Amino acid sequence: MAATDFRGLRRHVNRSVQRVVNRFCEEGEADLVGQYAEHLPMAVMCQVLGMPDEYNDRIVQAARDMLRGTETAIASNAYIMDALQRLTARRRVEPMDDFAGHLIAHPAGLTDEEVSQHLRVVLIAAYEATANLLANVLRQVLIDPRFRSQLNGGQMTVPQAVEQLLWDEPPFSTIFAYYAKQDTELGGRRIRKGDALLFAPAPANVDPRVRPDPTADMQGNRSHLAFGGGPHECPGQDIGRTIAEVGVDALLMRLPDVELSVDEEELAFTESIASRHLVSLPVHFTPRPQQDVRKRPTHENDAPAQQRDWHIEAAPRPAVTAAEPEPRPAPAEPPVPVPPPPAVTEPTPPRNAWQRFLRWWRGY
Ligand code: HEM
Repeated sequence: MAATDFRGLRRHVNRSVQRVVNRFCEEGEADLVGQYAEHLPMAVMCQVLGMPDEYNDRIVQAARDMLRGTETAIASNAYIMDALQRLTARRRVEPMDDFAGHLIAHPAGLTDEEVSQHLRVVLIAAYEATANLLANVLRQVLIDPRFRSQLNGGQMTVPQAVEQLLWDEPPFSTIFAYYAKQDTELGGRRIRKGDALLFAPAPANVDPRVRPDPTADMQGNRSHLAFGGGPHECPGQDIGRTIAEVGVDALLMRLPDVELSVDEEELAFTESIASRHLVSLPVHFTPRPQQDVRKRPTHENDAPAQQRDWHIEAAPRPAVTAAEPEPRPAPAEPPVPVPPPPAVTEPTPPRNAWQRFLRWWRGY
């Protein structure tokens, strides 16, 4: 990941925003979780790994299904592994400067199986966390007028807004399966070799010793633990930040008058010990035409009489041309038998302690 070209990455994220927003911008309403935050990171990661053509509704549904651990999760995993194995085989014969190409060229001499398993770890680690981060920042913009006006007025930059949410709502609340390799002491506690440890960024980020006032504006401070720390600190953090920053900025450039369609209290989360996932973010906005995916996102020159309340960059923006809009994608067939999303309104109470434990663990 050290070889990432961030200028190129920002360009891919911008294009992906255009593609994803083109799918709903003419409707005047959307669910920014199901139609945006869950799509953008997958569109970008397919490009980063080296398989831009694999991005579609199918792979997004498969990743979501796999992460939920439903009865079709194994089939969804097989769908994703099939795409990654095809990518690995292609790169063996046709080397390219993408993540799959770098893994194949790695001096460790990885087998095809090792390359495709690495690709899966990276794809899923990147997808889930970045989708959560993007959804959390968008939710904050929509529910908190002060937060939004600080962004509009330039008192807060988009990177600062992203960092604030990494403090307040780290995408992974807890990460488990760490084992002490030797006897040691941590925070005054004796840890024995082989002890299992939980690493929990969410409580760490509100530890009064590092953050006496949990409501304080952290002003871009990056000393939170949302990406972990030490030798295993998230190697993809700057990719995640870039997707979230461009994803928020470009969406608000395209849809500056976007507003929440429900009361804040109606927004539901699925929660588990590991993460908190916003279920949906219904919004409405002035319907707008599709835009050329090669242009930078903008709301200028579109329908008149708009409320232009989103300006975070001083530079004048190029005029929009309606040239080469993305064709509307054909509705995708389901990849695997993906069940309908779980109802979030009134979940049926689990019947026994094991089911209650599973529900708590998985968060749904
Ligand atoms: C904003 C989004 C992200 C968050 C909050 C996040 C968070 C984390 C955390 C907390 C860890 C464990 C760190 C530790 O054990 O100390 C981790 C590991 C990892 N992350 Fe991320 N991550 C994000 C995005 C990404 C992206 C975009 C990629 C890939 C491009 C990625 C790839 C990885 C990998 C491969 C590991 C395992 C590292 C290791 O075990 O050595 N992550 N991430």
